Amino acid sequence: MGIAVITGANRGLGAEWVHQLLEEGWEVYAGYRTELGRLSTFENPNLTIHQLDVQSNESVENFAENAPSHIDLLINNAGVADGRWRNLTEIDDSWALEVIDINALGPVRVVKALYGKMNHASLTNVAMISSLMASIDDCHMGRSYAYRASKTALNMFTVAMKKEAIEDNIAFVILHPGWVKTDMGGDRAPVEIPDSVSGMREVLASRTLENSGQFVQFDGELLPW
Ligand SMILES: NC(=O)c1ccc[n+]([C@@H]2O[C@H](COP(=O)([O-])OP(=O)(O)OC[C@H]3O[C@@H](n4cnc5c(N)ncnc54)[C@H](OP(=O)(O)O)[C@@H]3O)[C@@H](O)[C@H]2O)c1
Repeated sequence: MGIAVITGANRGLGAEWVHQLLEEGWEVYAGYRTELGRLSTFENPNLTIHQLDVQSNESVENFAENAPSHIDLLINNAGVADGRWRNLTEIDDSWALEVIDINALGPVRVVKALYGKMNHASLTNVAMISSLMASIDDCHMGRSYAYRASKTALNMFTVAMKKEAIEDNIAFVILHPGWVKTDMGGDRAPVEIPDSVSGMREVLASRTLENSGQFVQFDGELLPW
């Protein structure tokens, strides 16, 4: 095992990533925005935590400076939903921009800041936690305008970055965790948090430089763009 970095790690899927990777023997460097949440329940010497707001360059740079010097796995998990506006006339442009800033640019800031610690002789995996709602082909219901657009932008940032990263021995994967029972997914979601994360970990295990940039669901299904 190696050293993993996880953003948005205090609750939901991020906290479960921390739990499962620690159980597997990884060293984990985890970011929380304000509250420690579930992070305060782990008693493990292999866990280090640090404040991280992916919307702030200063916070991201501080997080990266304090990160271990060699990183093998980055899980860009932090994200927000949008305003659940009922129709297009309700779209609030300032919140829409914030959603895009957090969900699309946040992970890019983290990759940029940690890049020098990820390009080394052994393969580094970077998981971008996206969503099926990013898929233009699959957008039958509409709505969730800013959330969808932010995750589509995240997918394109990732595919556009992956070619350069291959030269530096870094593989990207764009992951859809399923519709999961978290604060964001809600109680009606059919997928349990541990099942989503263990499925995504299996997808990660099959990553290579050759399949870098794929858009994959937690059960391994390839998704349409
Ligand atoms: N749940 C689903 O059904 C589902 C489906 C598809 C994709 N996803 C994606 O999966 C990821 C995790 O979602 P989740 O369901 O676990 O959601 P969640 O329970 O709402 O947790 C979101 C996490 O992101 C953090 N976060 C939000 N804004 C941040 C910022 N500016 N800087 C740092 N951290 C920030 C939150 O921190 P705070 O506690 O400080 O707010 C929290 O730890 C997200 O990217 C989401 O879009 C989820």
